[in-house]
Amino acid sequence: MHEDEKDDDGKLNEQSSGFSRRDFLKVGGISLSVPLVIGSRTIRVAGQDVKIYGPGKVPVSLNINAKNYTAEVEPRVTLLDTLRNELELTGAKRVCDRASCGACTVIIDGKAVYSCTVLAIEAQNKKITTVEGLMNGDQLHPLQQAFVDNDGQQCGFCTPGFVVACKAFLDKHPNPKPEDLKTGLGGNLCRCGTYVGVRAAVMQTAKGSSVAQALGLASPDSAEGGQHNG
Ligand code: FES
Ligand code: FES
Repeated sequence: MHEDEKDDDGKLNEQSSGFSRRDFLKVGGISLSVPLVIGSRTIRVAGQDVKIYGPGKVPVSLNINAKNYTAEVEPRVTLLDTLRNELELTGAKRVCDRASCGACTVIIDGKAVYSCTVLAIEAQNKKITTVEGLMNGDQLHPLQQAFVDNDGQQCGFCTPGFVVACKAFLDKHPNPKPEDLKTGLGGNLCRCGTYVGVRAAVMQTAKGSSVAQALGLASPDSAEGGQHNG
């Protein structure tokens, strides 16, 4: 602040600064009363219109388990956090939060996807299936029942993601060979080693397969790849 902006008592001279304390309070009051939901706007970059969102909350609409949901989230918020924190769909779990473990797996347009790596605004206009969407009323999906039948869970924290990944896998490979499971489910981790049970559950659910066949599978160490996010 320049010295000439103060009066004889050393106080701020509001006129010389061009912005009075009263102005400051007015502007502050306005910004506090304007909601942070500002939607999107378009800017011109290199001759092209580019839509930008945020930084405040934006409205999103999501189709999840054949139902439409709306929420207001900042554009940086993931689908996983939107499901869990805004929509009370807590089946997908937040474990690594960085595309390593598969606990957050959902199905988007037929593909198993780590929901911790997808922004909620990106997931609009797509069909999302979470583990909550597999049940038929109170009745477990046959795959969920097969997890129970084959002890496909221990801690249970990774289980919803595994069930969803298995569902996506079976949708694409209704009659898989045991060796297909090694790569097809390689995107999900179970630290306590229920892989044999998980694979048995998949084979029980698959048409024309038997549990005995599944129990003869190779060790989980050989699992690789996975079909997530693309
Ligand atoms: S929480 Fe998303 S992959 Fe682990
Ligand atoms: S059952 Fe969850 S980590 Fe093994």
